[in-house]
This record gives sequence, C-alpha cells and structure tokens, in this order.
Amino acid sequence: MENININLNGLSDFIPLSKVSDMKYDVQEKIEALTSGKGKGNDFLGWLKLPEEMNDAVLKDIQESAQKLALSSEFVVVVGIGGSYLGSKAVIEALSHSFAAYRNNSAPIVLFAGQNISSDYMAELLEILDNRKFSIIVISKSGTTTEPGLAFRLLKQKLESAVPQDEIKNRIIAITDAKKGALRVLAEKEGYKTFPIADNVGGRYSVLSPVGLLPIAVAGFDIKKLIEGAAFMEELTTNHHKFDENPAALYAAAREMLYSRGKKVELLVSYHPKLVYFAEWWKQLYGESEGKQNKGLFPASVNFTADLHSMGQYIQEGERILFETVISIGKPNKNVEIPNDNDNLDQLNFLSGKQVDEVNKMAELGTRIAHIDGRVPVLTINVPELNEFYLGQMIYFFEVACAISGYLLDVNPFDQPGVEAYKNNMFALLGKPGFEEAGKKLKARLGK
Ligand code: PA5
Repeated sequence: MENININLNGLSDFIPLSKVSDMKYDVQEKIEALTSGKGKGNDFLGWLKLPEEMNDAVLKDIQESAQKLALSSEFVVVVGIGGSYLGSKAVIEALSHSFAAYRNNSAPIVLFAGQNISSDYMAELLEILDNRKFSIIVISKSGTTTEPGLAFRLLKQKLESAVPQDEIKNRIIAITDAKKGALRVLAEKEGYKTFPIADNVGGRYSVLSPVGLLPIAVAGFDIKKLIEGAAFMEELTTNHHKFDENPAALYAAAREMLYSRGKKVELLVSYHPKLVYFAEWWKQLYGESEGKQNKGLFPASVNFTADLHSMGQYIQEGERILFETVISIGKPNKNVEIPNDNDNLDQLNFLSGKQVDEVNKMAELGTRIAHIDGRVPVLTINVPELNEFYLGQMIYFFEVACAISGYLLDVNPFDQPGVEAYKNNMFALLGKPGFEEAGKKLKARLGK
C-alpha cells in the first residue's frame, strides 16, 4: 500500500535541508510528549486513537444509522459549525461529483446548516425543504453553540410541522457530549438516536469520529477505507519510524524552520477544486491550534489554477512572508483527452492528444518553479489519488503534524480560548441574561 509523502526539495534554495534534519531530536521529543500524554493539553488526546476506536462494530452502527436516514430522506441536513462540520464537508466535497446535480450515487443530498447566521441562507434552506423528505444530523459537542442551536430550532420545527410525531425520532440523530449539555438533555427527552463525542476529542480533531463519519456515510462514501487510511498513517507517524520516513515529523520540522526564519503565512495550495473545503478544514485545524500567545503561522489557502489569476501576482512579487504547501494529487480519477481542431484558431493544437491532467501537472510544475524563483519556498505533499484511503491518511497526517507544530511553538494545540471574545460581545449586544452589564458598556462604546 502506498502512503502520502512529503517532498522538501522546494526548500533547498532557502534552508539547507540538513537544518531540517537537525530538528530530528526536538521533533521526536514532541512526538514522545504527544504519545506518552505528557505534553500540553493532554486531556484532549483521544483523537490519536480514533482509528482503533472506530472498530467494525462502531462503523457498522454508523453505517446502519446512515442507511436508515438515507432511506427516509431526499436531503439530510447536517447542523454544526467549526470542527463539528468542516471535516465531513471537506471529505464529502473531495469525493463528490463536481456538479451536485449529476451525483453518481443514489445517496441523499447532504446539506449543511448552523455554520453561519445568514438570514438568506436559512430562509433559502427552509424553502428548498418545503414538501421534501428530509432528516437532520445535529452535531454540537457543547450543545450550546448559538449558530447550530438556532439552525436546529428552525429545522426541528419545520420537520415537526411536516412529519407525524412518532416519525421524528427516526429523522433526527444527535452527536454530542455523552453526558452533559443542552443537546444531550433534549436528545434524551425526545428519544433521538445519539452518538457520543468523547470528552478527550476536541472539535477540530473529531472528523474521524461519528462527527465526521456519519455525514460522510450518509453521502455514500466508504468510512471503513477512510479509517484504514488513518490507521495506516497513525503507524507511520510514531517514533517507531525514522525521522525522515515520518511525513508528519518532516512537515512539522520544515514549518518550524520557515517560521523561525520570518515566514508568517502558510498557503495551502491545491490544483483540484474538490479540495477547496479540505483547505477550509486545514485552516481551522492549524489556525485554532497554533494562533495563540501572539504566535503562529497564518494559515491561508488558494486553489490553482483559478487563483493564479487573482492571487498569483501577490504570491510571485508581493511581500516575501509566504511559503506554500502544495497538495499534489498523483493521478485523476477520470481522464479527458484534448482533441485536435482543424482550424486551430485558439492555437492550442500543441496540446492535442494530451490528457487535461497533463496540462494541470505542467501548470503545477511551472508554478512551483516560478514561485521558488520568486523567493517563495514550496513544500509538496504527494497524494497518490483522491479517494477515502488517502483522505484518511491526509487527515491523520495533518492532525499529528499540527499537534507536533503546536508543541514546537510551545502552545497548547488543543484549546481555543480566543474564540470566546466574539461570542461574549454578541451575547452582550443581544441582551442574553447574565450579559446585561457587558451590554451596557459595549453600547456606550458604540455610542448607542
Ligand atoms: O474546534 C473546535 O473545538 C470548535 O471549532 C468547535 O468545533 C466549534 O466551536 C463548535 O463547537 P460545538 O461542537 O461545541 O458546537
């Protein structure tokens, strides 16, 4: 079986590669801290063992639940935000037909809600569910997050107005804390099927738990293969393997070298539109894990070649604060050959007979060289192909590398204290009980 691997050659003009190898002992110490549970945030390490915990019995339960929802629904609405939605959205987008209307499986359409507070989004979602058969998967570890809470209230009432009471519990699944929180209480009162989110698994590390697996199974994808890929990567990222055979160790070491040499922004680059949401998942993982105590690389993303026509100029010639991590997919799932054209008015006959993917690959190679010439270091993650197995590897790889990176920065990669600031102000402005004083102060600041 192949594995994803990392190529550091695009760094050699910027850092002697021996410097990355010099980080071996530092990185291995952080891996040891992680696996022995002696590092920061060690009460949130449950994700490390998810590939084993998602054993055949658990996967069967998830798959059967997914099938039941699928049988009764044209649409399944997944309600959640941040770590409670980005992982499943990323995998579903990566594996689905590019054009939703032409999906190649008979699974229900998975829609997402609760990841914003847009009135238009909510109204239009409710509109399309009118007179349609739908189910809800509501995901919130805390059970008290405002965005999914609001969306679920609206969707639940819509479902209750359309379906007999005794059918509701077949149409709603809740994924939440095993014991506490408002959603747990509600699910037990209403008799919904539930899956627990373990105390020691944080939101952004939860895609390989039922949080990600149930929506992915509903969309018709193979969660067993996804977990197999993750298990494969779990084995490869321990200290049992040599430093230079461990892709997560190399990636974390290279990022740290670039950061300590003044790079401020890491751009995750892909050449496949299906990976746009994978980059969104990655941004949350790295942004929330590393961005604290005024430290951390800013995680950004671009999708090429589209963004070469918008962001390409800055990357080539703007401030030299960037480096790129390119996700390079070995081969496409579908091939298209470029035809000859007798008139050749577009002067593209030099491409006749080539595969579209070959053109994409040359765009990738040409861009890589151009950006290195423009003083942008380029790391490459090679992924043989886009399927469940390699996505499982990628998820686990990025999670482990993120935890090592957080330890190298000396931050706790598993908390997110900064996320509370906006919530407190929003509650104060909306007059939530308990926030009255803060509300008065904020309104005075705003001159209201
Ligand atoms: O990574 C995290 O912990 C966050 O992004 C959470 O997943 C997000 O805030 C949603 O929280 P909850 O699942 O409690 O609704």
